[in-house]
Amino acid sequence: TERRKLIAGNWKMNGLKADGLALASDLAGRLKGAGAVPFDLLVCPPFPLLFPVGEAIKDSPLALGGQDCAPKTSGAHTGDVAPTMLTDAGCRYVILGHSERRADHAEADALIAAKAAAAHKEGLIAIVCVGETEAQRDAGQADAVVSGQLAGSIPAGATAANTVIAYEPVWAIGTGKTATPDDVKAMHANIRATLDGKIADPAKVLILYGGSVKPGNAAELMAVENVDGALVGGAALKADDFWAIATSC
Ligand code: G3H
Repeated sequence: TERRKLIAGNWKMNGLKADGLALASDLAGRLKGAGAVPFDLLVCPPFPLLFPVGEAIKDSPLALGGQDCAPKTSGAHTGDVAPTMLTDAGCRYVILGHSERRADHAEADALIAAKAAAAHKEGLIAIVCVGETEAQRDAGQADAVVSGQLAGSIPAGATAANTVIAYEPVWAIGTGKTATPDDVKAMHANIRATLDGKIADPAKVLILYGGSVKPGNAAELMAVENVDGALVGGAALKADDFWAIATSC
């Protein structure tokens, strides 16, 4: 099965308008200059930057995504952002269930599934994040934890066209520690096996790796079987680094 790689930049809570515009325009320019490339490139800025960044890259193949969305379409939900507001800004993707949201906002699998269902209804591609903590890995529970997260956070109606999985071991996020290629290979195989019966066409689902991906380790990680791209945090804030990661595919 041919799976086109996806290199996704999660800007998290970083950057003001001028920074975001400069970064996105730089990447759009590189993409234009590069011609045909073997990957899709995605940036996920903080909510206030979605409209200006979306406007700046609207004629570019650089894709736009949100970092979260509400499980509802509109109404009295102070502080929440509806999936329609993301598509209105030009988003095609939304990151859901990132470990930082699971930790900072106590997001549980059922809520993430509801958000993904709402995102799908609006035509968004949900990037559903899963990953074990260091303690869970040390206790030998990594596979079970991740399988459980997948079972709970993928909604009915998920397909390879509307759902991407991102495996991010919590202990590798922002720490400089990266999972070994062997660990990643084993976990991605576990994930693909778990998707069987959960998603139509499991062999076509993209499974991204995230956690301290940088130019120096990207080629090795992207070459691992069942690794279909990267979800990049820190290194996505620098055009040179993010582009180097993408072009190592
Ligand atoms: O969403 C991105 C990940 O949490 C990885 O972050 O590349 O800074 O380790 P990082």
